[in-house]
Amino acid sequence: MIDDLWYKNAILYCLSVGTYMDANGDGIGDFKGLLRRLDYLQGLGITTIWLMPFQPSPGKDDGYDISDYYGVNPRYGTLGDFVEFTHGCRQRGIRVIIDLVVNHTSDAHPWFREARGSKDSPHRDWYVWSDKKPANADKGMVFPGVQKSTWTHDKEAKAWYFHRFYDFQPDLNTSNPQVQAEILKVMGFWTQLGVSGFRMDAVPFVIATKGAKVKTPAEQYDMLRSLREFLQWRQGNAIILGEANVKPKTDMEYFGKAGDRMHMMFNFHVNQHLFYAMASADTRPLAAALKATRTRPATAQWGLFLRNHDELDLGRLTKAQRELVFDKFGPDKNMQLYNRGIRRRLAPMLGGDRRRLELAYSLLCTLPGTPVIRYGDEIGMGDNLDLPERNCARTPMQWSTEPNAGFTESDRPVLPVISKGAYGYEHVNAAVQRRDPNSLLNWTERIIRMRKEVPEIGWGDFQVIASRDPAVLILRYDWRNNSVLFVHNLDEQPREVSFATGLPGETGKLLVNLLAEDHSRANDDGKHNLLLEGYGYRWYRVGGLDYLLKRSDIDTDSTGKASHPA
Ligand code: GLC
Ligand code: CA
Repeated sequence: MIDDLWYKNAILYCLSVGTYMDANGDGIGDFKGLLRRLDYLQGLGITTIWLMPFQPSPGKDDGYDISDYYGVNPRYGTLGDFVEFTHGCRQRGIRVIIDLVVNHTSDAHPWFREARGSKDSPHRDWYVWSDKKPANADKGMVFPGVQKSTWTHDKEAKAWYFHRFYDFQPDLNTSNPQVQAEILKVMGFWTQLGVSGFRMDAVPFVIATKGAKVKTPAEQYDMLRSLREFLQWRQGNAIILGEANVKPKTDMEYFGKAGDRMHMMFNFHVNQHLFYAMASADTRPLAAALKATRTRPATAQWGLFLRNHDELDLGRLTKAQRELVFDKFGPDKNMQLYNRGIRRRLAPMLGGDRRRLELAYSLLCTLPGTPVIRYGDEIGMGDNLDLPERNCARTPMQWSTEPNAGFTESDRPVLPVISKGAYGYEHVNAAVQRRDPNSLLNWTERIIRMRKEVPEIGWGDFQVIASRDPAVLILRYDWRNNSVLFVHNLDEQPREVSFATGLPGETGKLLVNLLAEDHSRANDDGKHNLLLEGYGYRWYRVGGLDYLLKRSDIDTDSTGKASHPA
């Protein structure tokens, strides 16, 4: 595997072991099952698996409540199975990153049990305590409506403890040097077992000052540098992908001006404006979001996503924008969550409309950053709104038309398999789509292959090219004399656009279509005229004569239109 900043052009695929594939028939997905599905993933073309928490855990927050950082939940297998899995990935050239959940532990973690038992426990100061109820105990909840407070009284400890998330997730005192050393140890452990990095959970909270007297938490960004430094020393190619839903003006604090903090961050700002653009067919706020998050160190990269395992958080949109997204994509109260987001999966949000799904994926693959795909989205899986909170979008992978979608032989799967309606496994599953050349699965495989052929996106600089039509977004990337250009029409109606390719003096250029045969040659005035169908998209390589000379497989006929030789 080539190590050189591999994450700049990776294709990430996020999955949770428990709902992917069950090998031993107990209803719970496991590492043995996942191992059997690696060929599927390799065929799809993904380059990196992001594994959600799989460590021992009471499972009250889908594993984000860890009770042992150095093990595998016996539900999923053993450490041995984990190593077999990473080995299987390495054989296929697939990397693995795992969740690093160190803002908090489970209240079942031995550290917390010991800490609450006695003020003299060596682990007491690993958590955040207060003798009295803190003034801000009912402020700062991450799950408003479900979570009641951020401080809870513990009878055994005879004190209050701080929890940014649910009350069974006591916050670690991350300012404590012993806790910091332990976090490094956890990272060292898993890199030793073959992982290429970490998706770091809840970064802003990990680095925030915590305590009863803290009114406005301050970020201790230096912590990010020590994490990176440690990783770099231990394993030079390992990365940290940070979950930090922060404002663009603080992005550079997370990346580090010298590129010495997080390698990657999820671009939540672009994510929300992307959904707004898809809901409104107005791409201007998205273009502004792209510009606002443009600056990043040369070695850094954005992680881009459509839907993830949490709700689609719309908290950074204006009220009017948010209302519009709710209205288009999640109008029922039951589809919304935590007063700020939508909990549905992508396909049902887009009405199962193939044109819109392709548009969304084409954007995911061509906006500046590295695409992160959620398992099941490649076949257009749906959600089950009868399940509580975020579980609705975490149902088992739909493999085939066999009972329980071929996910398990047990008739009691860990979460119910979607079996009713248009998204039921009889209609939506990998086996049927694999045989159909026109399926979403095969389309996704093709678009992933094409994304890998345009590394300019990961390496290059982008510019937004004026289209004079708010529904149409045109992006261009330049890298080492190579240029690519992407056009997307976010409206249902066909649009005619006229645009210049972007660089002065670049008249007469040919735009070579990467996905179909209709190449575009500029008019005399140097502009291109394009008719885009509703939700249409185009991927072009900006080529001139040079390009044609280099690429003998493209011919130009007498009209100047490029065509393939018969
Ligand atoms: C992150 C995770 C979310 C989890 C929370 C607490 O936000 O994405 O799923 O509930 O952290 O660990
Ligand atoms: Ca199992």
